[in-house]
This record gives sequence, structure tokens and C-alpha cells, in this order.
Amino acid sequence: MARLEGKVALITGAASGLGSACALRFAQEGARVAGFDLTPEGDAAWQEAAQVAPGASFRVGDVRDDAALGAFVDAAREEFGRVDILVNSAGVAAGGPVHTVEPEEFERVIDVNLKGTFLACRRVLPVMMKGGNGSIVNLASVEGIEGFEGGSSYNASKGAVVLLTRNMAIDYARQGIRVNAICPGFIQTPMLAGLWDQPEVEEIRERIKEAHQLGRFGQPVEIANAALFLASEEASFITGHALVVDGGYTAGHRHGIARLMGLDSAPPSA
Ligand SMILES: NC(=O)c1ccc[n+]([C@@H]2O[C@H](COP(=O)([O-])OP(=O)(O)OC[C@H]3O[C@@H](n4cnc5c(N)ncnc54)[C@H](O)[C@@H]3O)[C@@H](O)[C@H]2O)c1
Repeated sequence: MARLEGKVALITGAASGLGSACALRFAQEGARVAGFDLTPEGDAAWQEAAQVAPGASFRVGDVRDDAALGAFVDAAREEFGRVDILVNSAGVAAGGPVHTVEPEEFERVIDVNLKGTFLACRRVLPVMMKGGNGSIVNLASVEGIEGFEGGSSYNASKGAVVLLTRNMAIDYARQGIRVNAICPGFIQTPMLAGLWDQPEVEEIRERIKEAHQLGRFGQPVEIANAALFLASEEASFITGHALVVDGGYTAGHRHGIARLMGLDSAPPSA
């Protein structure tokens, strides 16, 4: 039997990157999916998900808009009769050393990444409570568990998402609802591409890639597979967890000492 047979999954940020990759993997495993995004056109992964999943629906809206999220959840409940899974993937990447960040810009990042997650959960939780079960997966980041040069607003938003996740895991466990986060390393999505589009960051890009011990950036499906696991019954005893999926980015550092000890630990690309 497919791993999400009969389940209904709501996904914010479904038009692109990790959100659309989740939609596709979930649809392939039998889920019915409803997407929500600012961008009206879903990418190729979303289009494929919409073909695979019967009755897949997509709604244009902003995760900062409580009423729009309410309408999204109501429509999904009316159409499918239940909501089993919520993936919060809508997000923006931004930052800068604190003294360079305008207060309005700081607020924008917190509003989308943190408040958007809060608002979507706030709308979905009562529906899940009625059904007596549910699984929420929040896209945090490795930048939610450790600092990153110039990360400021983004780090703050993702760190808060990790703690909000743990808090909800405690509050809703006895309602049959599990809440987990994923902390991806750097994954090849349009968000990452947007950070690399100036030629002067080429060297930095390579250094960041090398900081992933596997010597490469991640692929969206590698995050979607983790989300699928957390959303499914296979993770039935996992809640309040922040799952790092980062190719070893947060494992530690390589300085060449193992090579002196007889192990060639050079990255595969060297
Ligand atoms: N790509 C990475 O390397 C990476 C690493 C760690 C965490 N993340 C997190 O994963 C999530 C998905 O990132 P991605 O790489 O797929 O990015 P992406 O830019 O490809 O997709 C993000 C989607 O969110 C949507 N969105 C943005 N603001 C919105 C809003 N206010 N309301 C509704 N939708 C909105 C965008 O339109 C877009 O479709 C984000 O929360 C991001 O912070 C990404």
C-alpha cells in the first residue's frame, strides 16, 4: 500500500522548490494534495503532482494573510472532508548584519517564515483535532540551529520555527497530532539560485558546498523524502524533532587531520 494512501496534505509554498517536491512525492505515495502560494503558476514538480494526485487543488494567497489561510483550509476540508498533513514550506531568504537591516525588512522575514507558519498551523490544528490525528512538518533550516554569517533575520525566524515546532508537539500530542521540523542544508531550489546569481559569490558558493561533508548541495527530493517519512505512519513515535538533512553540514569541520592519519578525506570534488 502507498505510504500516504487516503491522506490529505496541505502544502504552503507549493509552487516551487521544496514545497512542490513534497507535493509530488506525497502524490506519488497516494496523498491528495492542496497547494497554497503567492505565485499563481506552480513549477514542473507541482504540475506533475497535480496530474498524479486525484482532485489536486491550488490556491493563490499569502501566508501572512490569516483570512486567506482560513479560506484555504476551509476549501480543502470541504473538498476532501479531512486534513491529515500540513507542510509549511513558504519562506523567503534574506538577512544582513544587523546594523544594515531595515526594521521593515526584518519584520517581512519574520512575518513570512515564522508568523506564516504560526498562522497556517493555527488554522489547520482545529481541523486535525476534530479528526483526532495529524502530522505537521515545518521547513526550518540548519540556520535555525546554528548561526550563519550575515543570517540575522533568517536565522532568527528559523530558530523560532524550531522552538514553535517543539512547543506545538507538546501542546497537541494528546490530540493525536505530531509536529516536526526539517532543517535542510543548502538545497538546489530557486531560492538558492537567487542567492548565487552574482558572479562575485562563486568562490563563497564553492566554500559553502565544501562545508557539506558529502561535497555537494542537496536535491529537493532528498528533503521531500524526509518530509514524507515524518508525515507518514512510519514516524508514528516521532514528534517535537528537528530533523537535520544537510549532507553533514552541521556534523563538524574537516581540516585535513585524518589525511595525516592515513585516511584520504578530501572531498569527492577535490
Ligand atoms: N533551498 C534551501 O537551501 C533551503 C534550506 C533550508 C531551508 N529552506 C526553507 O525551505 C522552504 C522552501 O524553500 P525553497 O528552497 O523551496 O524556496 P523557493 O523560493 O523555491 O520556494 C518558496 C515558495 O514559497 C512561496 N512564498 C514566499 N513567500 C510567500 C508568502 N508570503 N505566502 C505564500 N507563499 C510564499 C514562494 O512563492 C515560493 O513558491 C523555505 O521556508 C526555506 O526557508 C530552504
